[in-house]
Amino acid sequence: MKVFIAGGRGRVGSPLADNLEAKGIEVVSGGLEDGIDVISGKGLAEALVGVNTVVNVLNTPRFDAEGAISFFEGAINNLTTEGERAGVRHHIVLSIVGVGEGDASDIGYYLGKVAQEKAVRSASIPATIIRATQFQSYIPVLIDQHTV
Ligand SMILES: NC(=O)c1ccc[n+]([C@@H]2O[C@H](COP(=O)([O-])OP(=O)(O)OC[C@H]3O[C@@H](n4cnc5c(N)ncnc54)[C@H](OP(=O)(O)O)[C@@H]3O)[C@@H](O)[C@H]2O)c1
Repeated sequence: MKVFIAGGRGRVGSPLADNLEAKGIEVVSGGLEDGIDVISGKGLAEALVGVNTVVNVLNTPRFDAEGAISFFEGAINNLTTEGERAGVRHHIVLSIVGVGEGDASDIGYYLGKVAQEKAVRSASIPATIIRATQFQSYIPVLIDQHTV
């Protein structure tokens, strides 16, 4: 089994890659640092050769609705187009508990995550959406963002 982790060197992607490799699963890391850009498509087709499953743990620093929607939707579209060509059979997306609901439903970043979920649900590759709450490793980021 060969897994492509879109965002494979990020906070979630990096320990995920380690865990999969420890189980003997072949992992291809797909991030900017790896020379792969899922938005422009650079390096994507080559990286997906022989891949069965894509795990999408991409992220954008854009917190405005326009930027977040365009990033998350664009990535799903490119991963679907190139994934289909490569014969990918499963697309797993990490989302967030509660996006699109309640008081925070109009936060731009969350609108991006809602658009991401919608795009992968209607895409041609069978998908699983996992909604998680924030992980412990995200706490320092939140502290930095909100310290005045
Ligand atoms: N962290 C959490 O607590 C948490 C909880 C629930 C859900 N999530 C969701 O999980 C996802 C990942 O979160 P994270 O905290 O792991 O994010 P992160 O640490 O910011 O990692 C994001 C990854 O995306 C890659 N990336 C960004 N733009 C790219 C592009 N154009 N082409 C290819 N790769 C690109 C980055 O690559 P480079 O490093 O090479 O720039 C990086 O590896 C997000 O969608 C988030 O909403 C996270």
